[in-house]
Amino acid sequence: MSQSLVTMSYIAATILFILSLSGLSHQETARRGNYYGMAGMAIAIIATALSDAVNAYVILILALLVGGAIGAKAALRVEMTQMPELVAIMHSLVGLAAVLVGYANFMDTGASLSGVEKTIHETEIYIGVLIGAVTFSGSVIAFGKLSGKINGKPVLIPLRHWLNLALLIFVIGLGQVFLEQAESGGGFWPLLIMTFIALAFGVHMVMAIGGADMPVVVSMLNSYSGWAAAATGFMLSNDLLIVTGALVGSSGAILSYIMCRAMNRNFISVIAGGFGTGSSGEAAAVEGDVYPIEAEETAQMLLAAKNIMIIPGYGMAVAQAQHTVNEITKLLRDKGKKVRFGIHPVAGRMPGHMNVLLAEAKVPYDIVYEMDEINEDFPNVDVTIVIGANDIVNPSALDDPNSPIAGMPVLECWKGGTTIALKRSMASGYAGVGNPLFVLENTRMLFGDANETMQAVLKALQH
Ligand code: TAP
Repeated sequence: MSQSLVTMSYIAATILFILSLSGLSHQETARRGNYYGMAGMAIAIIATALSDAVNAYVILILALLVGGAIGAKAALRVEMTQMPELVAIMHSLVGLAAVLVGYANFMDTGASLSGVEKTIHETEIYIGVLIGAVTFSGSVIAFGKLSGKINGKPVLIPLRHWLNLALLIFVIGLGQVFLEQAESGGGFWPLLIMTFIALAFGVHMVMAIGGADMPVVVSMLNSYSGWAAAATGFMLSNDLLIVTGALVGSSGAILSYIMCRAMNRNFISVIAGGFGTGSSGEAAAVEGDVYPIEAEETAQMLLAAKNIMIIPGYGMAVAQAQHTVNEITKLLRDKGKKVRFGIHPVAGRMPGHMNVLLAEAKVPYDIVYEMDEINEDFPNVDVTIVIGANDIVNPSALDDPNSPIAGMPVLECWKGGTTIALKRSMASGYAGVGNPLFVLENTRMLFGDANETMQAVLKALQH
């Protein structure tokens, strides 16, 4: 394929990627956004495979088959609740690819660059390997934390900020040594030492971030993986990879910022780690009587209510209760009730987790509201059903300064008539803190798997 045709295909792919990102920002257009993304990726792969830069077709096809098969198998097997882990491990692969491409470029004796061009190329290699290694090890630790294989509690090394600063200065100095040695064909050792430091830094950075702040880490690593891909693009002189990497990198950075704002966190503090752990006292223990309720009584309360709010959380994803929830919603709306959904920005385990589940169950978009849109309205709500949510409805975030989630805005359902909370036990949520909502006088606990209890409620409503 001629170079101009490749360039045109790359421009077409870039436009499709931008359309894809803008489509993904609204539920109504998300499906279309995905199709744009798929089309863009198909064009990108075909144009690259047919370009003059590629001649090892057997290896390329083998790699496509093996990679495609692994990806398809992982995507088919993964449960919706394991999605964030899958995303984290995928990010780690982007980081690893940047490291490997960096080393391959470094060892490639065929390159005939000289002077400034050579220095620029070597700087690209150094920065590419650096970002790639941080992304790789950070994502592996994030995978461990999200899947529960590594304890979610922050690991805080004394003087860690100074240590990070010292490492950064050392890595910059090492970069200078690398460039000097690379002039005369050397530079392997500085590159290798920097790689190990970057790997250690990635581990340290994510280990220091507490459970409640993990949403920011997921989106931040998403952003890093974009920059790692862009760095790979520079090393391979591939314009499309640079543009795509920059798109992912910047959209991930914007998402991290949105997440931080939603959680009332300072971005720099989260990245530096240990946010929410500096409080001097212990978070208050939760004491009080619990008022259990049965499905039958829940149904009666719903039938007596006019204004109903549903707050889904991670437990709804675990129980896969969204379809039953949709049935109940339909039934209640047919009876003339006002039913709305309140979505917290960090509900579940990944950005947009609840929106995806509700869309899958075909809950109408126009009754699904963001936290900011409906939080003021709780005093007008008669009954709120909290389905497998915990941290996102925890009043201690607002009134206990020692809580690890202190300062995070939450859905203030306790200001409404009655809250019915569905969960299996009195266990705490992701952040590991007790929730005083469950012992308030106007809260009722409906214990059991959320799908089973919701089905029992549906049955009771139908009779
Ligand atoms: P959580 O605070 O994790 O609470 C979920 C609750 O669901 C648990 O208390 C659990 O209680 C209950 N549950 C689990 N399985 C259930 C089932 N089958 N049936 C009924 N209940 C079930 O979830 P949340 O309120 O959605 O808050 C999200 C948390 O995850 C926040 O702390 C957030 O920072 C964190 N996080 C979010 C993200 C993103 S991007 N959204 C990423 C990483 C971490 P039982 O065990 O008693 O049933």
